[in-house]
Amino acid sequence: MAIVAVTNRIPAAGLAALRAAHEVRAWERPECISRAETLRLIAGADAVVTLLTELVDDEFLDAAGPQLQVVANVAVGFNNIDVPACQARGVIATNTPRVLTETTADTAFGLMLMVTRRFGEGERIIRSRTPWQWGMFYLLGMGLQGKTIGIVGMGQIGQAMSRRAVAFGMSVVYADDVAPPAAALDGLATRRVELDELFEIADVVSLHCPYLPTTHHLVDAARLARMKPTAYLVNTARGPIVDEAALVAALQSGQLAGAGLDVFEHEPQVHEGLLALENVVLLPHLGSATTETRTAMAELAAGNVLAVLRGDPPITPITTSR
Ligand code: DGY
Repeated sequence: MAIVAVTNRIPAAGLAALRAAHEVRAWERPECISRAETLRLIAGADAVVTLLTELVDDEFLDAAGPQLQVVANVAVGFNNIDVPACQARGVIATNTPRVLTETTADTAFGLMLMVTRRFGEGERIIRSRTPWQWGMFYLLGMGLQGKTIGIVGMGQIGQAMSRRAVAFGMSVVYADDVAPPAAALDGLATRRVELDELFEIADVVSLHCPYLPTTHHLVDAARLARMKPTAYLVNTARGPIVDEAALVAALQSGQLAGAGLDVFEHEPQVHEGLLALENVVLLPHLGSATTETRTAMAELAAGNVLAVLRGDPPITPITTSR
């Protein structure tokens, strides 16, 4: 029996699978674990299940010890994991792709609808008991049909977002260093363009790339300046892909029509400038937040741990290419 540390609460199905085969030390308190408690909990573990809020760096790996075989992140994003540091110690790092694809695309699409149709503004008016009356020109938004969506990062989630956009009558352009297999783009009638061109022609830019050193502030003041003043930005990927101060300035000056954000540069802090704007929709990182998807994520993370501990290859090792 190996020791598996689980650094935060995860759905019961994942824990049960681990407990059936190994000794599990799980953090089960409702509040998030502190760094000091994390380092204590993982000492001597053969496997650790982490959330995106845990930094897996040299300090973490030292605290776990040389017997550590696998770090299983319960997220598709892995910017919290120093993958080279894991590799240098022979520790396998895994994530949870695919199981959250549709749910995250739903979130991105929901944000796009909310911001382009001004649903957040409308809801705030009702809730604040502000007097209102139906009117021909009241709270007009932008229709999606016939518009162009620019997908930055045509991986699984970018493809799922594109399918939704096509169903709503949008045309799709995308930018990615890696072209997905042709079959993945079947029925999308999509066109690959350079990143700068995408920002110039899209009516909505939706971010679906991983956060890497190369994508830090990929959306900066210069890229925002390329966007049409009628265009919108949607981010369900990672906050620091966007220079949040530059985004606030672009939204304040009318250089951009609006933004729908599920993630923030300094999460869980949100830029004060965003909070003051009507033309943004802000969600607290809910991309994959359904009971079904979070359960599937926990089960996949547990499956990765169980595979590695029995000497098999992990189901979904972290890879930066598709
Ligand atoms: C992820 O998996 O990376 C999301 O951001 C959280 O579900």
